[in-house]
Amino acid sequence: MDGASNLKKVWLLFVLAIAILGNSRLAAGNNQYAGRKLDDEIPDYQSSFSLITHCSMHNLILGFISIDCGGDEDYIDKDTGIPYKSDKELIDTGIVNTIPSDSSGNLARYLKNLRRFPQGKRNCYTLRPEQGKNNNYMIRARFFYGNYDGKNQTPAFDLQIGVNEWVTVNTDDGFYHVIHVPLTDYIDVCLVNTGQGVPYISALELRHLDNSIYHTAGGALTNIVRYDIGREGDLGVRYPNDVYDRYWSPLQFDDWIPITTNSTIYSHSDDNAYSIPDVVLRTAAKTQNASIPLNLYWTPPDSLSKCYVYFHFAEIEKLEAGQQRKLKINLNGERFLVESIKLDYLSPQTIVQNNPPISGKRLHFSIYAAEGTKLPPILNAVETAVLKELPNKPTAIDDVEAIMEIKKRYRVTRHWQGDPCVPSEFSWDGLSCSNKNPSRIISLNLSSSNLTGVITTSFSNLKALQSLDLSYNDLTGSVPEFLAQLQNLNTLNLSGNKLTGSVPEVLQKMSRDGNLVLSVGENPDLCVSDLCNRKKKKVLVILVIASSIAVVLVLLFIFSALAINRMKRHGGMVTKSIIKSQNQQYSYFEVVSITNNFKTIIGEGGFGKVYLGKLKDETQVAVKLLSTSSYQGYKEFRAEAQLLMRVHHRNLVSLVGYCDEGEKKALIYEYMANGNLHQHLSVTNTNVLTWNERLHIAVDAAHGLEYLHNGCKPPIIHRDLKPSNILLNEHMQAKIADFGLSRAFATESDSHVSTRPAGTLGYLDPEFQASGNLNKKSDVYSFGIILFELITGRPAILRGPVRNNHILDWVNPLIERGDVQNLVDPRLEGEFNTNSAWKAIEIAMSCIPSLAIQRPDMNHVLAELKECLALEMARGRTQRMETVGNKTTLRIPSKMIHLEYESDTAPHAR
Ligand SMILES: *[C@@H]1O[C@H](CO)[C@@H](O)[C@H](O)[C@H]1NC(C)=O
Ligand SMILES: *[C@@H]1O[C@H](CO)[C@@H](O)[C@H](O)[C@H]1NC(C)=O
Ligand SMILES: *[C@@H]1O[C@H](CO)[C@@H](O)[C@H](O)[C@H]1NC(C)=O
Ligand SMILES: *[C@@H]1O[C@H](CO)[C@@H](O)[C@H](O)[C@H]1NC(C)=O
Ligand SMILES: *[C@@H]1O[C@H](CO)[C@@H](O)[C@H](O)[C@H]1NC(C)=O
Repeated sequence: MDGASNLKKVWLLFVLAIAILGNSRLAAGNNQYAGRKLDDEIPDYQSSFSLITHCSMHNLILGFISIDCGGDEDYIDKDTGIPYKSDKELIDTGIVNTIPSDSSGNLARYLKNLRRFPQGKRNCYTLRPEQGKNNNYMIRARFFYGNYDGKNQTPAFDLQIGVNEWVTVNTDDGFYHVIHVPLTDYIDVCLVNTGQGVPYISALELRHLDNSIYHTAGGALTNIVRYDIGREGDLGVRYPNDVYDRYWSPLQFDDWIPITTNSTIYSHSDDNAYSIPDVVLRTAAKTQNASIPLNLYWTPPDSLSKCYVYFHFAEIEKLEAGQQRKLKINLNGERFLVESIKLDYLSPQTIVQNNPPISGKRLHFSIYAAEGTKLPPILNAVETAVLKELPNKPTAIDDVEAIMEIKKRYRVTRHWQGDPCVPSEFSWDGLSCSNKNPSRIISLNLSSSNLTGVITTSFSNLKALQSLDLSYNDLTGSVPEFLAQLQNLNTLNLSGNKLTGSVPEVLQKMSRDGNLVLSVGENPDLCVSDLCNRKKKKVLVILVIASSIAVVLVLLFIFSALAINRMKRHGGMVTKSIIKSQNQQYSYFEVVSITNNFKTIIGEGGFGKVYLGKLKDETQVAVKLLSTSSYQGYKEFRAEAQLLMRVHHRNLVSLVGYCDEGEKKALIYEYMANGNLHQHLSVTNTNVLTWNERLHIAVDAAHGLEYLHNGCKPPIIHRDLKPSNILLNEHMQAKIADFGLSRAFATESDSHVSTRPAGTLGYLDPEFQASGNLNKKSDVYSFGIILFELITGRPAILRGPVRNNHILDWVNPLIERGDVQNLVDPRLEGEFNTNSAWKAIEIAMSCIPSLAIQRPDMNHVLAELKECLALEMARGRTQRMETVGNKTTLRIPSKMIHLEYESDTAPHAR
């Protein structure tokens, strides 16, 4: 071996040696050693173990954790002076049992009771040594079955150290060690039920070791066996003789000559951190003469096991001056160490082999006197251990800490034990993890888990979380904004709790952007749209707007009064208004003249073409000419004419006049320069309506409809509301048109009943379709669909290759997800106020229940739409105020003046 560089570490001595290998008598003895292998790790100490000497008692021993599993109180062990702690507060699973008194007579106290784990596949103790991670620890788990359950059947089960398997326990009286350098500040020791009986444990001990000793390249040391060579009798050594509380078993073969010294060996030094107890080193064995080696045979668990051996030497014979014992060691006939070992009087040294660890079916160590020396070989103590690979890495520490906090905070009653993710077959119920190294918690489902209190910040420490389901608990408080810090969160279910306040805008935005499936339903006091949060603010905003409007209106009023006065005095054309000329009858000749002989077609309706016309006073008009062949058309024509002669409203298209000369029939309307809403919303239109314009159109149309429903007696039902029946004038003011199907609500027996199927597919009230029961709410439904078209920019019916899709089928899932961003017409490119958009969506939603009775009246819809518009205006004003800087004058958007002026001061027809 290339041990030269490791000379210091292994304390080599050169000694000439005469090796006599294969000595049969020693081999027999060694076979005995080898033969004990299977039981080696769990020797029966309970009766045989006692202390050689007592040192001072310590109430607290640095680096020790000693747990009496199932113990009812803390105490100091009378044999060792080690304080043991009851496990009561360390574990919340398992059941305590006591060993029957007949077999517990001279037992150590920590073995007199135990904790068993009938429930759950894995149960864990979590050790938290002060020294923390990346330190070296020896952990020992003790088991004393004592037939506590009267079944007389020793259970078998597995132990895990951290996230890796450690050993299968199948002893009724013994212990297992592991030497381990944890990557975490805590160490889980888990008992795994493998279906061969109920796992149990009697005691659990942790000892902090010096980091320089028992060093391995990864992995942990198990199957640890320690022999105090040359000691006769049954008594072992442990704490306080051994500062690390290692257990040393006596070992002496007949053909070995035991030697001992009364002198103290100062073993606890910086040079030898192994700190082999003085009492262990003071005994040793030697052979009869220098020709005879000390042979040791070791059969590892299997031939591939990576094995570690530690030889501890100290010269304990007082030699004549100039004499020195020099030893060599062979393994299976080969040099185990290149160098010889020179022993100094009462000076301990430890020999460990260099890397790599050794392996083989049977390991034969031969310690012999170096060539040319006359002193026989000796050995004071030996340890063997097997490397256990630790392939699994624990879950990312931040995740573990966060989930532990959550477990503690909500007293999660699930069987959550050990590492949350690793090994994967033990990952906690309700969570899933990534397979990355280290594992991360990517989803957490605590639905229906009786969680109470507020949503803890610990959730936001699960940084890799993609899905969080906290639905159907009793969570209170607000929906915390910190959940938005979870970069990968794509599902958040908070439904069915008692959350209050509003959903933070940032979460709503994630939802709108399609990055988060957000469920917040069934929280009675939770405001989904973030509006309630702003109620107060909104009131303020409205107050500010209202007072500004008032000022402007007063000014306008004064100004227009003056202007009108002046115009009147100058005989100006104030009476140009089409209202004045309404219901006027025209001759067919006049109609020809007005339309310039039907020169310009501007539309085509169900019962005839529509032409552009110009009255004598240059007022543009639209002339709808009834086709002579249409009897149906005639009925609708007459219905419309009758209705429009009766009702007048600025948001209903006005009838300028009519022509009724035998077969020649025409209706003359005010000209709507900007066509109909359908054209504006169509995909081919490049001049996209702004959000503001859309809201104004909605408010205008709602005004018109509200007037038909509530301003007319009897009320009028339009029955065919759709975007192509909403016309826009040169100021983009919207007016409802096409009353051909309209009927007065109270006059079911009226003669002009249309046999044409009422309404248009896509806008038809489902209840009316099913029952034929006609009422105002049918229009409300259609209006809701129009609102959705305004919001989304999509047609009511999207014609697909296979089947047609109704807008509601498209809209509903997005609304459920709270995905505003994808709901609102992408052509707006985000240029809208979110609150206003939400509000509009809410209003549209309120209009479309399939039960008519659940839909609001138009006056309610109108009021809501005005609020919605106010929200958008508030946004506009905020922006303006920013650009105006510190000028105190508020500039109100002209559109709003227009609207408020009209709605508040124009005379109503009712
Ligand atoms: C050690 O001391 C004991 C008694 O104190 C004595 O009998 C024994 O001979 C001593 N051994 C050595 C090697 O001096
Ligand atoms: C060593 O002891 C063995 C066994 O007692 C004996 O056969 C052998 O001759 C001895 N050798 C020496 C060099 O004394
Ligand atoms: C959470 O668990 C419940 C019940 O086990 C289940 O219905 C729900 O779908 C789960 N949530 C997620 C997000 O998978
Ligand atoms: C929640 O509490 C109820 C009533 O106390 C109980 O029946 C139920 O098992 C609990 N559920 C969970 C998951 O702890
Ligand atoms: C919570 O919402 C998510 C996403 O919509 C869903 O997958 C999950 O099943 C819901 N949980 C329950 C308990 O319904």
